[in-house]
Amino acid sequence: MKSNSTAPRIVVVGSCNTDMIIRADRFPAPGETVLGGTSSMEPGGKGANQAIMAARLGGDVTLISKIGYDLFGLQAIELYRNEKISTKHVVTDVANPSGLAMVTVNSMGESHIIVAPGANSTLSIDDVRKAENCIACADILIVQLEIPIDTVGFAISLAQKYGVRTVMKPAPAPLSLSDSIISGLFAILPNHVEAEHLTGIKIDGADSARAAADMISAGGVENVIITLGSGGVFVKAGDSYASIPARDVEVVDTTGAGDVFCGAFCYQVSLGRPIMDAALYANAAASLSVTRFGAQRAIPYREEVDAII
Ligand code: ATP
Ligand code: RIB
Repeated sequence: MKSNSTAPRIVVVGSCNTDMIIRADRFPAPGETVLGGTSSMEPGGKGANQAIMAARLGGDVTLISKIGYDLFGLQAIELYRNEKISTKHVVTDVANPSGLAMVTVNSMGESHIIVAPGANSTLSIDDVRKAENCIACADILIVQLEIPIDTVGFAISLAQKYGVRTVMKPAPAPLSLSDSIISGLFAILPNHVEAEHLTGIKIDGADSARAAADMISAGGVENVIITLGSGGVFVKAGDSYASIPARDVEVVDTTGAGDVFCGAFCYQVSLGRPIMDAALYANAAASLSVTRFGAQRAIPYREEVDAII
């Protein structure tokens, strides 16, 4: 049964983390210590970032996730509520800490991230099963790979059972994804590293991106959107192809740009917008996020994106 609300219903099954961020001129080499600049501790996690982007655009968002029984977990719950995200299916794991990400950002705005999944690694099939009614009523399901792959696969199969479209941001980069997972997707949004992992094709421009998109879609995914950082976006929508250039902006921190792209793309798709239009909108949203520091605090609001599109 669909809700009476006109806002599209978006369900995110995924991670929440706290990001420990240090900014430095450059990344250290192995064995080296470098003196960094400012530091901060901020909410992050690919699942939560994507959920917040969709909520800030106006989506009716439910997050299915797991936190630890600690301060970080409590802070995360409060934050999601402030963003008007339903936390009914954010579960507490008393045996593991909340997810933690160590993020370093260099002077080019590029980031290196290591995630200690903690409670994210115990988000189970049973946890998702308890949210079956919620997934059944969704307009779109969003998944990533910072939680167990079996849980991701189960969420996709539930969505398929109810005819709900699923979009995957395949991050962190997987070595491979099973055919059953790939073939259940409406769209997949790898960055160039993730696309290389999935296909073995080195992505260095539109031709290689097209070859990778063809290979991924041959596995049964309807739409393949490869994000290329400052190179913009390569889109394969059904049988159509397009390259969208990145917007010309002053970059300070690209952390979470892929999540912003994903959340905005899914919101647009859930409104019924064509794939190309959704990708253009997402490209604009992500271009705003890279001009600001941090993951969640860099996520733009709807008025900001509408103003530049
Ligand atoms: P992250 O892992 O940092 O969250 P990602 O590697 O998954 O991000 P990217 O491909 O780097 O994703 O970037 C996603 C989108 O963000 C790009 O397709 C583009 O729309 C926007 N973007 C990223 N870098 C830039 C840039 N330098 N200038 C303008 N837009 C950018
Ligand atoms: O995509 C950016 C996110 O990756 C960060 O917020 C960090 O928590 C990791 O999940």
